[in-house]
Amino acid sequence: MIKPLAISAFFKALADPTRLRILHVLNCEELTVSELVRLFDMPQSSMSRHLKVLREAGLVTDRSVGPATYYRAMLDADPEAPDAPLRRDLQTLLDVDQLALGLRQSLERIIALRAGENESFFDRMAAHWDALREDCFGSSFHLESLLHLLPAQWTVADLGTGTGYILPALAHHFQKVVAVDSSRGMLELARRRVEDHKLANVDLREGDLVELPLETGEADLALLILILHHLADIRPAVLEVGRILAADGQVLVLEYYPYENEVFRRQMADRRAGIAPEVLRAWFAEAGFEHFELWDVPTPPRPDHDLAPLPRLYCLVARKRKVCSTSAGWTEKEP
Ligand SMILES: C[S@@+](CC[C@H](N)C(=O)[O-])C[C@H]1O[C@@H](n2cnc3c(N)ncnc32)[C@H](O)[C@@H]1O
Repeated sequence: MIKPLAISAFFKALADPTRLRILHVLNCEELTVSELVRLFDMPQSSMSRHLKVLREAGLVTDRSVGPATYYRAMLDADPEAPDAPLRRDLQTLLDVDQLALGLRQSLERIIALRAGENESFFDRMAAHWDALREDCFGSSFHLESLLHLLPAQWTVADLGTGTGYILPALAHHFQKVVAVDSSRGMLELARRRVEDHKLANVDLREGDLVELPLETGEADLALLILILHHLADIRPAVLEVGRILAADGQVLVLEYYPYENEVFRRQMADRRAGIAPEVLRAWFAEAGFEHFELWDVPTPPRPDHDLAPLPRLYCLVARKRKVCSTSAGWTEKEP
C-alpha cells in the first residue's frame, strides 16, 4: 500500500535541484561526505542536511569503512515496494551518461585523487584493516589457497569430520573427499554444509575409525584433526589409516600436546588429556609409516577463555611406506 507521507518525503527530497544532482552523483559512485563537499563546493553542514533528507526518503544509504562513511544511491531497493517503478525510472534517468560534463569530470578527478590518497588511506585504515578483511572475506581464504600447491587428483579422507567445517575448502581443490564420522548428529550438520555449498565431490560416510568405511588404498591423504584423543584404543585406528591409504599416501594428524586442564578434558569429553607426539609417532612407525615431520601449531593466546589454559597443538605428518607391511594386515604392493 502506498503511504502518502513516504511518497511526499520522496518527492520533497527530489524537489531540490542540488539534492537531485547529489543523488545523481551517488547513483554513479559511492562517495564520502568530504568527497561530496569537494565536488559540490559547499559547506559540510549543508551537504549533511541534504544527505539527511535523501536518507530519510530512503533514496540513499551509507556504510562505515573504518573512520569514513560512504554514501550511495539506493534506487534498486525492494522490487516489490509500491514506489519501485518510480525508483527504476529515476535510476535510468540518473545514469552516468546523463551526468553534466563538468560534474562528470570533477567526479573523475575526485576518484583519481582517491587513488592518490591510497597511502594515507592505508595509514588511517591500519588499525581497522584486519577486522575489515575478515568481515569481507573470512579468516582463512589465504591459507585455503595454499591447498592448491597439493595435487588436485588426490582423494582426501577427513576422518572424524565432525560438522565438516573443513569440507568446502577441501572439496574446492581435491578431486574427491571422503568424510567419515561415527556421530549421526555431526554427520547431519556435515550433510547440510555439503548441500549448502553444493559440494558434489564429497562422500559422507557413517563409520568408526577402527573399521573405516573405505576401500584398501582408496585415499591419498588422511586427515585426523582433533580426533585421536577421543578413541579408547588408538593403535587399531592407526592400522586402519594405513590400510585405507594408497602406497606412498600421507597422513596429517592435528593433536593436543598432553595437558593438565581437567575442566577442559571433561567439557570436551576427551578420553585422553592429549597425546605425546613421540608416542603417536611410534605407533605410526609400527604401522609402516616413515618420513615423519612434527611442528607446533600456533593458536591465538586466549588467557581469558572460560576453559583456559587451552591445550597446545601440534601437527604430525608421515608417509606410508611404498611396500606395505603384511604384519599390519595390509596387502603387499608392488614397489
Ligand atoms: C573434536 S571433534 C573434531 C571434529 C573435526 N575434525 C574438527 O576438527 O572440528 C571429534 C569428532 O570425532 C568423532 N568421533 C569420535 N570417536 C570416533 C570414532 N571412534 N570413529 C569415528 N568418529 C569418531 C566425533 O563424532 C566428532 O565428530
